[in-house]
Amino acid sequence: MTGLEKAPTPGDELGAALFDPTSRVDPYPVFHRLREEAPFFRGPDGTWILSRYADISTVLTGPRFGYREPRALRTRALLVEQDRDGLLTDRDSGLSVSSFMTQNPPQHTRLRRFVASAFTGRAVARLRRRIVEHADALLDDIVAAGPVDLVETFAYPLPFRIICELLGVPPEDRAPFPEWSHAIALGMDPDFLLSQEEVARRARAMLDAAAYFHELAKLRRRHPREDLVSTLVHAEGGALSSAEVSSTCIMFLVAGHESTASLIALASHALLAHPGQLDLLYSDPSLTANAVEEFLRYDTPGQTVVRTALTDTTIGEEPVPAGTKLMSLLGAANRDPEVFPDPDRLDLTRGGSRHLGFSQGTHFCLGAALARLETTVAVRRLIDRTRTLEPAGPARWRGNFSLRGLAKLPTVLA
Ligand code: HEM
Repeated sequence: MTGLEKAPTPGDELGAALFDPTSRVDPYPVFHRLREEAPFFRGPDGTWILSRYADISTVLTGPRFGYREPRALRTRALLVEQDRDGLLTDRDSGLSVSSFMTQNPPQHTRLRRFVASAFTGRAVARLRRRIVEHADALLDDIVAAGPVDLVETFAYPLPFRIICELLGVPPEDRAPFPEWSHAIALGMDPDFLLSQEEVARRARAMLDAAAYFHELAKLRRRHPREDLVSTLVHAEGGALSSAEVSSTCIMFLVAGHESTASLIALASHALLAHPGQLDLLYSDPSLTANAVEEFLRYDTPGQTVVRTALTDTTIGEEPVPAGTKLMSLLGAANRDPEVFPDPDRLDLTRGGSRHLGFSQGTHFCLGAALARLETTVAVRRLIDRTRTLEPAGPARWRGNFSLRGLAKLPTVLA
């Protein structure tokens, strides 16, 4: 039995609405209610769910909040343990997976430093030509081709190809990657929303992906190339452990394309629903980069980040005991009227956006410059190569709670 099946109380009614799969289509009315009625809402597993911009910003930037989440993922298929530093170990194979995303300084600082230079604005700008080439190659097949699913034909494959090239994964090895990254991305949802099969699928996918990257790293150790795997294995004369290399690659695989694919799909969906805003992009190309910031605010792909109170502390006036688990709803913060006037309006000319779409503080998205560039190129090429974009049927939403996105977006590009 999950918390959602308990006898209804007012709190549970809001929780049921929040986690109801039908709310994925438009979660924002529930987010408004949470901010107004229950800004420190207790989820079914006791996690505090935060929805106000100011509270979330306090948690993301304050030193008294971080990662501390020992948990064991016990499944029938395999036994996997996650320790205090987020290390997953398969007891049978001894393979380990950890990620700097779920670690605190100083381990976090050390691991993040190894790859940070690959993601600076300047390093990423060198990828522009390649991103344009991939976008155009994909558009060659779908412009003037009648109705297509824009997710399958464009939003998903573009960032997928780019992250595989960055990591150095050859095309012939890529077939299992979409299944792995879907399973891992779904596994980012709170455990009480996942079935045993989904938990097992996530664990299996992480361990299979770790085994793959372990082998690729061995290859690159002997024969380095110009790719991220080579950078990682040769960092500081090979200072990273094999588990650290594999886990960092897995994090890039998932963070690097699932969320960018979602943003490109959600941006396209928003444009199809707002023809006036779409016209603005046709008439004024210089708006595109600003538009991407508004897409990140208006319909945020990465909806949740989780932290734990490391000491007894407060958020605003609210006392928070040490050990309290906190889930911040970034999409709710991004529609907070205290910060964004008329927050439910898509306005591509909105300036000075302080959205939290890439989080804030220590864990601010490392790939933000790449995600911005890919989405700017994707939207721009979509507009430059067409005269109109029109919906060709209802969109279908993914079931994911934490990584919001579309499964299908039927579109005509003419
Ligand atoms: C639109 C696309 C993207 C969105 C919405 C997004 C969102 C986020 C968010 C919200 C976090 C913060 C998690 C937290 O505070 O706990 C994050 C972290 C991260 N993202 Fe992204 N991301 C995107 C694209 C990318 C790309 C393209 C890459 C790399 C190729 C990437 C790599 C990372 C990494 C490595 C972290 C962990 C940073 C750390 O813990 O220090 N992301 N991302």
